[in-house]
Amino acid sequence: MIKVDLNGGEEVVYLDATHNPNATLLQHLALQGLEAESQCRDGFCGACKCKLVEGDVEYTQTALAFVMPDEVLPCICKPLTNLKITQITYHIKS
Ligand code: FES
Repeated sequence: MIKVDLNGGEEVVYLDATHNPNATLLQHLALQGLEAESQCRDGFCGACKCKLVEGDVEYTQTALAFVMPDEVLPCICKPLTNLKITQITYHIKS
């Protein structure tokens, strides 16, 4: 299980990366009931951009949106370790 802390402990979710090895971070969050902001879901619009404070991700494709070294695009990356993410906008699915 991978622990993901969102916005300084506002939400903490546990992702099952073993059973969903190809899921992106965005898809993992959706499986946990969190709908993170996104548009293209293909790495070029930047709508999902957030700050990676701690942990590692692996990109599944080249990011076309401009990202700073401490930022990630959840729509095209997979979580590798426990993560701390800030500046992420999401809502809880009802
Ligand atoms: S949703 Fe467009 S870059 Fe992630």
